[in-house]
Amino acid sequence: MKHPKPSVGDRALPHVRALDAYVPGKQPRDSGWIKLNTNENPYPPSPVVEEVIRKSACEGLKTYPDPISAALRKQLAGFFGLPGSDWVFVGNGSDEVLNLLVRTFADRDRPVGYMSPSYSLYPVMRRMQNAARAEIRYDRSMGLPIPAIAQCGANIFFLTSPNAPTGVGISTGSIEALLNRFGGVLVVDEAYAAFAEEDAIDLLTRYDNLCVTRTFSKSHSLAGMRIGFLLGNPQIVELLDKIRDSYNVNVLSQLAGLAALSDPGYYRDLARKIKRTRDRHFEALQDRGWFTYPSQANFLFTEPKDSRGNTGSPVAQSLYDFLSRKKILVRYFGNDPLTHSFLRISIGSEKEMAILSEAFDQWQNSA
Ligand SMILES: Cc1ncc(COP(=O)(O)O)c(C=O)c1O
Repeated sequence: MKHPKPSVGDRALPHVRALDAYVPGKQPRDSGWIKLNTNENPYPPSPVVEEVIRKSACEGLKTYPDPISAALRKQLAGFFGLPGSDWVFVGNGSDEVLNLLVRTFADRDRPVGYMSPSYSLYPVMRRMQNAARAEIRYDRSMGLPIPAIAQCGANIFFLTSPNAPTGVGISTGSIEALLNRFGGVLVVDEAYAAFAEEDAIDLLTRYDNLCVTRTFSKSHSLAGMRIGFLLGNPQIVELLDKIRDSYNVNVLSQLAGLAALSDPGYYRDLARKIKRTRDRHFEALQDRGWFTYPSQANFLFTEPKDSRGNTGSPVAQSLYDFLSRKKILVRYFGNDPLTHSFLRISIGSEKEMAILSEAFDQWQNSA
C-alpha cells in the first residue's frame, strides 16, 4: 500500500509550524505618509555618513566585510569607556543581537523572561527557540516589580529601558537593585537610551551577568542600515561570536556606523531637538486631558479621549483609523488590556507633529 506523501510543510518542527511570526510596523511604499509608527528618526543621518557612503559605495563591495566589525567594536568600546573591544559585539540590528542571546541562553529548561507589555519581539523569539517562558506583567503604574523578576526563574531576562511602547524609563538604581537579587543574565535593551536621562552602562564592569543592547536605528537615523550592538562581559561576547553568521554586518553598515560615531555633536543636537518636540507634545496631550506616560524615548504613549470624554479600545481604534485615512501612521497595540486604549506616536519633525495635532483637533470635533 502506498503511504500518502507528507507535504514539505509537515516536515517542519512543530513549534515552527505553530509559530505566529513577529508583525513589524507597517512600512508603506507609496509616498505622502507621515510615518510615526516605528520610532525612526525624522531627520537624516550626519552629513559625514552620507559622504562616506557616497564615496565608498562600489569600492569595497567585491570583498567580504570584516567578520568581527573590529574597527566599530574598538570605537564603541572607547565611546562607552569600556576596558576593551572584547566588551563589544556588533550585530545586524539589535534584533539580531537579541536573537543570538536567546539562542545562547534559553531552552526548555532555561526560561526566557521579559516584561509585558514591552517589545513584542521577545515572546516571538522565545517561541522560535521553543524555550520556557517567564513573563512578568506590568500594572498600569508601569513600576518595576523587582521581587517578581528576581524570583521568576529566568535564565535570561529582557528589560527594556526606556520601555516600549510606554516610554517609561527605569532608573539605574532600580536596575542595580534587581542585579543584586537576580542571578540570571540580565539584558537591558536600551534601544531608546539616547533620549533618556539614565542608562545602565556604568554597571557593566561591576556585574558580569549584565549586558546592554543598543542600536543605530533610532538615535542615529540608520534604521535602514541595520546596526545594533551589545556591551557586556567578554564571556558573553565570546559566546555570541560562536553562533553569529560569519559576516553578519555588511561593508556599508560598518562604514556608516563608524562615520556616525565620528560626529557625536550632530547626534547630540538631534536627540536634544527630538526631546524638545516630545516634551512640548507631551504637555499638549496633557492639556487635552489625555493620559500620557512621561516618556524618555522618541515616542509618546497616549490614551485618547473622544469629545464625550470616553476612552477605551474603540476610541483608540477610531483615532487610529481617522489618522490612517489622513495618511498619518501611528501604532496601535490592540491585543493587551494595558495597551488597547492607547496609541504610540513616534516623534516626527516639528512640521509632522503640527499636522498630527491638527488631525487630533479634527477628530475630537467629529468623534
Ligand atoms: C525595544 C527595542 N529593541 C530593539 C529594537 C530593534 O532595533 P534594531 O533596529 O536595532 O533591530 C526595537 C525596534 O523597534 C525596539 O523597540
